[in-house]
Amino acid sequence: MTDNLLKEMREYAAKEYVPIIRPETERILCSMIEKIRPKRMLELGAAIGYSSISFSRYIADDGVIITVERDEDRAEMARRNIATLGLEGKIRLIEDDALTLLRSMDREVDIIFLDADKSHYIDYYEDCLRLLKKGGIIIADNVLFAGLVEKDGEAERKHRTIVNNLRLFLKTVEEDDRVESELLKVEDGVMIIRKL
Ligand SMILES: C[S@@+](CC[C@H](N)C(=O)[O-])C[C@H]1O[C@@H](n2cnc3c(N)ncnc32)[C@H](O)[C@@H]1O
Repeated sequence: MTDNLLKEMREYAAKEYVPIIRPETERILCSMIEKIRPKRMLELGAAIGYSSISFSRYIADDGVIITVERDEDRAEMARRNIATLGLEGKIRLIEDDALTLLRSMDREVDIIFLDADKSHYIDYYEDCLRLLKKGGIIIADNVLFAGLVEKDGEAERKHRTIVNNLRLFLKTVEEDDRVESELLKVEDGVMIIRKL
């Protein structure tokens, strides 16, 4: 049933231009999550609930994914999809702004999946580190932003803020001795950050 709904959600997302996790990235992250079996996972950017439903198959039996979405219609659709599978106990959907939620949290988490607005990853970073347990990981998706982040020179105006902020985010992480990190150049680029 989960696989069928995930397939329908992927078709819906393609048809309605809802950006969801890419297939190879999904496969890699699911196997990473399966190895860790997190008890508490945080996701910023739920959209229609696709990735949280997919990840929920691999967390601990008594684990929970807290996910946040600020768009009312998408949050409503995510809520419906989660309820269809009876996953309300495993996926806690919060309709709010990601930074507001982050700043209000104080319980430790094992994994954080950054997938909300890319230009704010740099603003989320310190609070993510504060919430992350030692040895826990932050997974940041789309950090290469269609190749523009690694392309020489300044990005064209409409992408400039996002590209500059992602460059700053990657540089900050790479120079931070509180973490070790690895940039996976699959699909749109995934940064894996482990708190030491
Ligand atoms: C790439 S989509 C998330 C896809 C989802 N993780 C998946 O793979 O199925 C990003 C989502 O983040 C939401 N978003 C962007 N900025 C946000 C913010 N500041 N707070 C909460 N949600 C935000 C957008 O509305 C959008 O639905």
